This record gives sequence, structure tokens and C-alpha cells, in this order.
Amino acid sequence: MKWTSSLAGLVSLFTLVTAQSDSEPFVDADTGITFQSSTNSEGVTYRLALPADASADKPYDVILQVIAPVELGWVGWAWGGVMTYNPLTVVWANGKDVVYTSRQALGYYTPVQYEDAKYTVLKGTGVNETHFKFTALCSGCVSWPDFDGNLATLDGTSQVNFAYAYSTTPVEDPSTGESGFSIHDSVGHWTHDLGAARSDKFSSWVAANSGTNSTLRRRLRVGRYGY
Ligand code: HEM
Repeated sequence: MKWTSSLAGLVSLFTLVTAQSDSEPFVDADTGITFQSSTNSEGVTYRLALPADASADKPYDVILQVIAPVELGWVGWAWGGVMTYNPLTVVWANGKDVVYTSRQALGYYTPVQYEDAKYTVLKGTGVNETHFKFTALCSGCVSWPDFDGNLATLDGTSQVNFAYAYSTTPVEDPSTGESGFSIHDSVGHWTHDLGAARSDKFSSWVAANSGTNSTLRRRLRVGRYGY
């Protein structure tokens, strides 16, 4: 009897552990957006906000945010949790500006430009003394063709496995997203709770944090941000 109940306890503990994600809610002061946020052991933070109806049924846009120590040459987000054949977001600092590039790896070499993910840079993007911070709306980050050519979409109701990569080596030409860069110093994985990242405020967050590029750029250059 005792054995049965402790076994039941073990089983429920196991369920609890496997159901755990590495992300938690975080309200970003710069944008007012409530993200699901995850910071890895290298001190790089990955955040996501999704529309309330996000699911695996159809593609949806996301708001992503990446914050990284300025010492890093580049940091990456692999949306499929592996290096190859899925959208990669790669970000670095160029002086006071943040530069991003949309890539896809066709093998274990420098990923090529990837046109099917489009980014709109939002407020909450800039560089301070210690970190760079990138906030954007992405259309195409969570859906991509599988090996049969069918579009698959990350299940916005569940927990999803992402991968990160970073390098301490600067990219070849930090001023352009077309720059080449060399292999990471480290890669790893985390589980992000997409279901909990959904909100019916999504559209109003996008509207409140959009601006013309020049307005945005001016604000970013003079702006300070918190975490
Ligand atoms: C010049 C750029 C890059 C080079 C040369 C490169 C090369 C490699 C190599 C050789 C491996 C080891 C494969 C193995 O041992 O099985 C690897 C693994 C990995 N890379 Fe890259 N990589 C680059 C950029 C990136 C970027 C930008 C990301 C993510 C945004 C990334 C994510 C990963 C991940 C998650 C792995 C673990 C294995 C896997 O998921 O396939 N890499 N990379």
C-alpha cells in the first residue's frame, strides 16, 4: 500500500518535472509587453509573446526579444531546436545599433540568408553599456516547410524546444546583416512555454511599439532600457 502511494507520488513528480518549461512570465519595462522569458547559463535572454489564438493549425506572428552581453560577437535562436533546415535569428551589436539577420543552415557551415521570415524592429531595441537588446515582430519564424515540403507550424498551445548558439568572435562586418560569421563557442537547448506566452493584447503591443524607422532609430539611440 505504502509502496503504491509512493509510486504514485513518484509518477506525479515525474509528470511535474517533464511538464516544466524553462520560461517564466516577465514584463518588459521598455515595451510594456508581458513575455515568456528564458535566460540561459551564458546570460543570454530569449523572450516571446504570441497572439491569443496561436496554435499548430495556421502560421502566426510572434514578438521576440533577445538580450545579450555586449562582449558576444553574435547570438542565435534556432526556432526548430536544431541547426539545420529551420529559421535562425542571429543578432549582434554594431556600436550603438543592433543588427539582425534571418538565416537558414543548409549544413554545418555558415547559414545562408532566409527570406521566408520577415522582421519588423520594435521599440525595446538598443545597446547600453553592458547589453544589446533586440525586439521585433516576426512573420515566418514559427512555420517552415518540413522535408516533404509541407508547412509545419510550432504548436502555440504547448511547450516547445528551441536551440541557442553564441560566439565571442565578432562577425566579419558588423554593420550589415549580410555579414559572414564563424562557428559558435557554445550551443544548447531550452523549453519555452508558448501556451503561456499567448495574449489577447498581442495586437495592441505591436501597435504601441511600432514606429517609423527614423523615429525608432532616434529613440533607440538616445533611449535607455531596463531588463
Ligand atoms: C558559421 C556559422 C556556423 C557554423 C560553421 C556551425 C557549425 C556547426 C557544427 C560543425 C556543429 C556540430 C555538428 C555535430 O557535431 O553534430 C554545429 C552544431 C549546432 N549548431 Fe551550428 N554552426 C554555425 C552557426 C549556427 C547558428 C547561427 C546556430 C543557431 C542560431 C547554430 C546552431 C547549432 C546547434 C543547435 C547545433 C547542435 C546540433 C544540431 O542541432 O544540429 N549554429 N554547428
